[in-house]
Amino acid sequence: MNILEELNMKGFIEEPIDPTLDLYVEIEKLKKEKNAVILAHYYQEPDIQDIADYIGDSLGLSQQAAKTDASMIVFAGVHFMAETAKILSPEKKVLLPDLKAGCSLSDSCPPVLFAKFKEKYPDHLVITYVNCSAELKALSDIVCTSSNAVQIVESLPKDQKIIFGPDKNLGKYVAKKTGRNLVLWNGACMVHEIFSRQRIIKLQERHPNAKFIAHPECEDAVLELADYAGSTTGLLKYTINSPATEFIVATESGIIHQMQKENPGKTFIPAPPDNSCACNDCPHMKRNTLEKLYLCMKNELPEITIPLDIIEKARIPIARMLDISAKLGL
Ligand code: 13P
Ligand code: SF4
Repeated sequence: MNILEELNMKGFIEEPIDPTLDLYVEIEKLKKEKNAVILAHYYQEPDIQDIADYIGDSLGLSQQAAKTDASMIVFAGVHFMAETAKILSPEKKVLLPDLKAGCSLSDSCPPVLFAKFKEKYPDHLVITYVNCSAELKALSDIVCTSSNAVQIVESLPKDQKIIFGPDKNLGKYVAKKTGRNLVLWNGACMVHEIFSRQRIIKLQERHPNAKFIAHPECEDAVLELADYAGSTTGLLKYTINSPATEFIVATESGIIHQMQKENPGKTFIPAPPDNSCACNDCPHMKRNTLEKLYLCMKNELPEITIPLDIIEKARIPIARMLDISAKLGL
């Protein structure tokens, strides 16, 4: 099997790695040799977060991808995030350690079906959550992330009709916060939709002083219980600024690594999912490993490629989001 067939099959390069190698040292060497920057999302495993040049939420990662002067962006996250980096910096080589690191939310909104949905609302503006494919962004007017969705909707005239997709939970949260009536696509994230309201209430009874914090991709019934809802960066900042010492955290478990690093002495309890067999790990995010990261930098594969016409169309709504965010100081 040649290297490209292997990538199609597995999504990553499998190659024996000398067990005596210190991968931290080797990755640092590759970074310098190739003028590469590693951008990592908070949901990555702790080893990857610790070697990254920048760790952040989707907005922070997009802002970094747009401004970096590195020649190569190694994206430790999922496919739509690496695509966004490529759209913002098309002249750079953008690598993703495992091409199969997808996203259930992005998969819940196939562009062909969304285009038909959009046709039903010709006088509506289309706002899409960044967790979607490049093709879907190309069908959008403005992109948003969980840290700026409310402000982006509020920046539009009150009578502006809006389609919001693909996340119905974030859409409901934004509709509630802004008082706007949004037409929602029926998509959701497999990690955030399984938190159990009943089990969270029981946990709160056992930890009466704990603050409950949740990502707005969670269902309405869970968000109603939250002392604070926000993007991963928002949640992290809340744990730093709050005088509380105990937090129940309803989002992917990877963020707890940074919460513990930033708040030694505070306790973080993962919110329980509705089924005790489930866990709060995103199976897509967790496809990346330190070994895959090393091999991807060494071989400069898998690389993200996007047709030029899609890059050109998708860049417009992302640039609008970055402009609005910059004006609002986000
Ligand atoms: P943020 O980091 O932007 O909050 O996004 C969370 C998420 O689900 C990313 O896949
Ligand atoms: Fe997608 Fe959810 Fe995983 Fe984020 S946590 S990458 S939204 S499946």
